[in-house]
Amino acid sequence: MKRLNLAVILLVLTSFMACQQAPKTTSDSNPLDTLAFDYSSMRTLTVDSAAVVSAHPLASEVGKYILKKGGNAIDASIAVQYALAVVYPGAGNIGGGGFMVLTDSTGQSHTIDFRETAPSSADRDMYLDQEGNVIENASWMGHLAVGVPGTVAGTYLAHEKYGKLPMADLIAPAIQLAKKGFVITESEAKGLNHNHDSFVKQNKGSTIAFVKDQPWKKGDTLIQPELANTLERIAKNGAEEFYQGQTAELIVKEMQKGKGIITMEDLKNYKPVERKAREFDYKTGHVVTMDLPSSGGLMIQMMLKMLEPYDLKAMGFHSPEAINHVVEVERRAYADRTDYMGDPDFVDVPTQKLLDDDYLKSRMKDFVPGKAGESSKIKPGLKESEETTHLSVLDKDGNAVAVTTTLNGGYGSHVVVEGAGFFLNNEMDDFSVKPGFPNAYGLLGTEANKIEPNKRMLSSMTPTIVLKDKKPYIVVGTPGGSTIITSVLQSILNVMEFGLTAQEAVNKPKFHHQWQPDTIMVEDDFPKEVVEKLEEMGYKIEYRGKIGRTEMILVQEDGKLNAAADRRGDDGAAGY
Ligand code: GLY
Repeated sequence: MKRLNLAVILLVLTSFMACQQAPKTTSDSNPLDTLAFDYSSMRTLTVDSAAVVSAHPLASEVGKYILKKGGNAIDASIAVQYALAVVYPGAGNIGGGGFMVLTDSTGQSHTIDFRETAPSSADRDMYLDQEGNVIENASWMGHLAVGVPGTVAGTYLAHEKYGKLPMADLIAPAIQLAKKGFVITESEAKGLNHNHDSFVKQNKGSTIAFVKDQPWKKGDTLIQPELANTLERIAKNGAEEFYQGQTAELIVKEMQKGKGIITMEDLKNYKPVERKAREFDYKTGHVVTMDLPSSGGLMIQMMLKMLEPYDLKAMGFHSPEAINHVVEVERRAYADRTDYMGDPDFVDVPTQKLLDDDYLKSRMKDFVPGKAGESSKIKPGLKESEETTHLSVLDKDGNAVAVTTTLNGGYGSHVVVEGAGFFLNNEMDDFSVKPGFPNAYGLLGTEANKIEPNKRMLSSMTPTIVLKDKKPYIVVGTPGGSTIITSVLQSILNVMEFGLTAQEAVNKPKFHHQWQPDTIMVEDDFPKEVVEKLEEMGYKIEYRGKIGRTEMILVQEDGKLNAAADRRGDDGAAGY
């Protein structure tokens, strides 16, 4: 009955899309062929009651289906995560980890940290050779790059605490998508083809769903029978299946095929953690975001507090003056990230000192408006492929959920667990593998983020909810490695300072500064005249393709929900 209902929903979706635009390919027998359509009409919508935005339109539709079935925002977010693990293998996952931020209908906040951990036999020098040099790619590709995954434990904890519908109902759509397959988009085909050789190399001797003889093309169907079986076992046996059952055994067997060090004990000992949300006021809003071991929330608080004295609104959206101010607070906050931030269960992070009003004022003392600062003169002040994915959900009762989850790089370590059909993360690269040695995102780190057994690697993921009068106002987040924090910052400023709609706030070109390298990274379509003015101020500019894939729900003044999925990917919004 359950499956029949889902099939009906997907069939309705297909028909709806057929009304929107003629299919590019047809296959009457499979209702999941929706991805043969152009989903641009599903990027933004304004609805009365509930909305879901994620990196894939089918996953967003799954979320809407769960909401309509009587599930709450937490149920929907869980179902979307499992669906993304199927339809967005580059970042959606059960082999990775992430963070959930939630505000309930009374405005009460909760978070769940399901970040990966270092295996128990990890050590600080595990990626260095005998001369102490960093071994190229060792923390990035292959079995040794994998941290103990947290996603399955995180979803089960979220469900136990706040879910309504049975967990099996929330995983059922993903099982169906994995079993029947779904039609891939052009960008997914490109992603799979681009990584073909690496998938073959990292999975020698295994047959994996992501590799076939001919190159992938838009319109092909990706079927994942092993993943479907794994999801069925999880739905039947619960999180224990992943951490102690057959799936755990398959993960450990996979580890032994390469140089992986995750053991049955590591999996059994993995625990997601409920943490207090980082909360603070910014002007008329109350920001609720993720605290350490994600640096995102603390950094957003530091940056908004440094910006608060300035009238950005008067300077104007994308004005060189406003960008000058935002870049200079980014420079200072990222310098502090390098030295001070790490897993709070292992290091004392001087959070109060970093947030002290006098400290933040002193950080901006040497800022000269209209002039580029110099990173070489800014030190940490106290005497710190981007395939992550974000989803935002708001239900009819006012429960809001922001979840950012990741494999780290695109398709993580490229290792697929043989017999289980899912990619494992390469999250170990988010540790500082050697003091002063930049990770894949150019982020530096020191002692605070060194590798230690069972420690969580510092993250930038910033799932965030802004409340007004205890009610959801903005639900937002994005992938983008080190650019996550600055993209979320800009998204909030775009709405709260510059009055942009969700669609504009998400889609307007973005910029980013992270202290080192000392450049402003801008998207390729950033306005040229603004870039020229910034160069006149003394900034070096680096063009950088795309920045982030932001998913935002904005509650308008009339109470309607404006849901915007980023134009930069295949993302989709759904709601009613
Ligand atoms: N793997 C990206 C992050 O956690 O920041």
